[in-house]
Amino acid sequence: MTKVLLTGGAGFIGSHTYVALIAAGFDVVIVDNFTNADTSVIDRLGMITKGEVVFETADLREMSQIEAVFDKHKPDAVVHFAAFKAVGESVENPLMYFENNIKGFLNLLRAMENHNARHLVFSSSATIYGDQAVQPIPETATRGYTSPYAFTKLIGEQILEQMAVADPNWNFGILRYFNPAGAHDSGLIGEDPAGIPDNLMPYIAKVALGEMEHLNVFGDDYETKDGTGIRDYIHVCDLALAHVKSLQKLINDQVGHTVNIGTGAGQTVMDMLAAYGNAVGRELPHKVTDRRAGDVRELTARADLAKQVLGFRAERDLANMCETSWRWVQNAQRMNSK
Ligand code: NAD
Ligand code: WQD
Repeated sequence: MTKVLLTGGAGFIGSHTYVALIAAGFDVVIVDNFTNADTSVIDRLGMITKGEVVFETADLREMSQIEAVFDKHKPDAVVHFAAFKAVGESVENPLMYFENNIKGFLNLLRAMENHNARHLVFSSSATIYGDQAVQPIPETATRGYTSPYAFTKLIGEQILEQMAVADPNWNFGILRYFNPAGAHDSGLIGEDPAGIPDNLMPYIAKVALGEMEHLNVFGDDYETKDGTGIRDYIHVCDLALAHVKSLQKLINDQVGHTVNIGTGAGQTVMDMLAAYGNAVGRELPHKVTDRRAGDVRELTARADLAKQVLGFRAERDLANMCETSWRWVQNAQRMNSK
């Protein structure tokens, strides 16, 4: 059985991917330092998968800690989520982002090389596309960065590309996610950001819970049907399955790939607010404010390469993203108030 090391496996996307990997028959070890996850996630993963969850508390920035995990578990492959991801925070503290997302990543690659584990699925992001005139965006579009966070993702891709040239034994699956949303059907895991959420769906969820008064809609003067920004929201359980398919492809075919993971369809901010309101059963309040610095009009994925290369297609719709998010955040509110 292939043993997979899942870095950041207690986080939002990592926890859903854990469930998908276990369902697909992989032997999985989570490594997380719990800087952005609660340790109770591990118990909840055990409840969903009805099994013992193997995990190690370790920090990728510490080479000795990551080496110890490799020595103990001897993984064959790695799915790498562990990183910081807040764009605004990265602008304020770039070094912190470079240390975690680049140094931590280099340590991981060194440990993989030392232990001869040569299959890696890497979390990239649509943020590396910046502002594109052509939508939906094909994988061949120009890459760039508008924040230190985006820089860490771009450089991550480039590091892997150069390593694959130097040594063809390395196989990399680079997945460029668009906007993950929704939660697991069980209502036991989901996104639970501390403080005021940066991202749209967690913010709308807080409005629905009554923790925020209204949604601030960042600009209604974009060239879109209702003037608000368009994004390609993909259910986190679909995204999790994309990782399973990517890993299976690496193991079976021994060739790498770089693909977008989105639905191919865009939704405006107002579409999202209305869909969430439907799930909750009432209209949710909003106020239009200025545009947010650095935002682009649209980010929608061309999704055909993932279908062609991985046989992956997103199955879940917007209504399901909203229903599952709503179920999860109500549960999380109950758990947090205990
Ligand atoms: P998350 O913060 O929920 O999960 C990341 C996990 O990694 C957390 O559990 C955190 O504790 C852990 N971690 C961070 N630094 C670590 C370190 N040095 N050592 C060990 N563990 C560490 O984030 P997420 O939304 O699940 O994102 C996962 C990955 O996907 C990240 O690489 C992110 O950049 C990328 N990504 C996320 C989005 C998004 O919108 N959520 C979009 C595109 C790409
Ligand atoms: C979506 C839309 C906002 C909040 C970010 C990162 C990106 C990637 C995904 C990791 C935009 C609007 C939002 C709010 C709003 N993460 N909005 N009011 O900006 O597409 O991408 O997350 O890789 O790197 O930049 O996602 O959810 O913040 O915004 O009107 O309170 O919702 O303007 O149009 P974004 P988002």
